[in-house]
Amino acid sequence: MKYQLPPGVFDIIPEDAREPWRSSYIWLYLEDLLRTVAQQYGYLEIRTPVIERTELFQRSVGESSDIVSKEMYTFEDRGGRSLSLRPEGTAAVMRAFVNGNLQQLGPVHKLYYIGPMFRYDRPQAGRYRQHHQFGAEAVGCHSPEQDAEIIDMAYTIYSRLGLKNLSVQLNTIGDDATRVAFRDALRAHLQPHFEQLSDDSKTRLETNPLRILDSKDPRDKELCADAPSILDFLTDESRDYFAEVCRLLDSLKIAYTIDSNLVRGLDYYNQTVFEVVSNDLGAQSSIGGGGRYDGLLKSLGGPDLPAVGFATGMERIIQTMLKQEAPLPPAPGPTLFLIPLGDAARHRCFTLLGALRQEGLNVQMDFTGRKLGKVMNHANQLRARYVAVVGDSELDTETVELKDMESGKKQPVRFDALADVLNQN
Ligand code: HAM
Repeated sequence: MKYQLPPGVFDIIPEDAREPWRSSYIWLYLEDLLRTVAQQYGYLEIRTPVIERTELFQRSVGESSDIVSKEMYTFEDRGGRSLSLRPEGTAAVMRAFVNGNLQQLGPVHKLYYIGPMFRYDRPQAGRYRQHHQFGAEAVGCHSPEQDAEIIDMAYTIYSRLGLKNLSVQLNTIGDDATRVAFRDALRAHLQPHFEQLSDDSKTRLETNPLRILDSKDPRDKELCADAPSILDFLTDESRDYFAEVCRLLDSLKIAYTIDSNLVRGLDYYNQTVFEVVSNDLGAQSSIGGGGRYDGLLKSLGGPDLPAVGFATGMERIIQTMLKQEAPLPPAPGPTLFLIPLGDAARHRCFTLLGALRQEGLNVQMDFTGRKLGKVMNHANQLRARYVAVVGDSELDTETVELKDMESGKKQPVRFDALADVLNQN
């Protein structure tokens, strides 16, 4: 019996010809690049469990957000606790910060994570029930440079991967005073059209009107198109802060568009919010997003430290890379594939295999003893760079004919010189 995967989840397999974005060698390449960039920007890795108490996300991401109200995988464990698979990383990282008393380690904390997130949404291209995020969170610094650094880091990741055609959308949702004033104005704008709002937004008009700006429902979108702009409600401090973030991005030559309706789908944000959109992704076009969330740590029982961060969807990055034909890593293959003929050759090749691996080379050997033609085909499938057939005469002379599988050329190489020759290639 063959078991089907549940909808919206997928395997990452060594190589997938039909859906190349699921090939693990591309994921490894991406993860390496993400870790390198994180390290260059001074971020250290943090790993948190995939299950957390449900209240954590209710308190932070917000009960009225789509993520919490509709998309969480929530269950009761055998001890009667309500647990949820994490739908995002920020809340979990802040929970770990509080539990681990990380504030004792210094004034500023830069943390990154890579891992699966779970959202029960309708699966479609670019939207999965298990997806993977790289995220970075900077805690302890309320300064426009820190916001700009986060946006710059996202931008650097995408440009190092060779992605094009991306746009950065930027906004500020100001401080508490800004949002109190803006909420009233937004309510006043939408109230006369109450009956035209979607059912969710009817409720949100009372509980959390800013959420309506993030609604995907066409009726809500239309009503929000001429809504008041939050930028007209900024306090002096919020206005200056945002102007400085913009100036810093200009100085880094990062192009952005200000979108005053951008509020993001999670409730913990204040001040700067941003989203990076790939124009080659179709409907699920947001490749990454983030913003400042100064009150979150305190609301989770931690110290009153400001924070800003972002996360990017790894499936969407890889799909954009493939769509745009961005440079991909070479598909992996052994440098040398050894084919022994006969028992004596098998023994000699097995020792040679061990010695060459000790030199750090990727070498493989045929253990099956099948016909030469079949084994050659296998070496080809593996994309071996060189192949060497070892029989009695090779054993006598301690020399192999090293066959270059691309050019077909052969060169004699002594066993004891193989490591040097292969390492030069
Ligand atoms: P988010 O915008 O909800 O933000 O998710 C971040 C990214 O994850 C999205 O831009 C998208 O690329 C990807 N993503 C989200 N849902 C899916 C899905 N169902 N399938 C595929 N990809 C998806 C957050 O999660 C915040 N925690 C970001 C943050 C970090 N803000 C501050 N720090």
